[in-house]
Amino acid sequence: MATAVYPGSFDPITFGHLDIVQRASEVFDKVIIGVLKNQTKNPLFSLEERVDMIEKVTSDIPNVEVVSFGGLLVDFCKQVGADVVVRGLRAVSDFEYELMMAQTNKELNPNLETMFFATSARYSFLSSSTVRELAMFDADIRQFVPEYVHRKVYEKLKEEKLTV
Ligand code: PNS
Repeated sequence: MATAVYPGSFDPITFGHLDIVQRASEVFDKVIIGVLKNQTKNPLFSLEERVDMIEKVTSDIPNVEVVSFGGLLVDFCKQVGADVVVRGLRAVSDFEYELMMAQTNKELNPNLETMFFATSARYSFLSSSTVRELAMFDADIRQFVPEYVHRKVYEKLKEEKLTV
């Protein structure tokens, strides 16, 4: 039984992430979305808010679980019994960082494989930071995130007085 961890910040989750989750759920018996807790970057959404949004928008995929983690990814994978780390590759610009991470994790745990999913072309430009920036300028982000996330982004920006 192969279990994969799909780790990330998910600040917030986008259709690009969801596409990877959906496809990974068809390849692996179980997919655990690992939501990073202790970030150096200052996220827009709290950990609880990010987990809540992911749980809501993945509730229709039975073999997906959402778990937050701090510390090293390899330790989290060991803790949840995962054999594989899944990451999406959007463009060549992602490659250097992703390769460095995969190789570091392999060095830390030779039994843990990283597998890359090529991002679907229609989401190759999409990132959480683009979504946050577009929303700050009051653009319509409904084609980039599910309705629930769309609502949460606008509520959060209003609450934090971040809209222009
Ligand atoms: O969505 P992101 O921010 O690109 O995800 C990055 C993430 C969470 C996969 C990465 O920062 C990570 O694995 N952090 C945990 C700390 C760790 O294990 N670092 C060593 C790998 S280089």
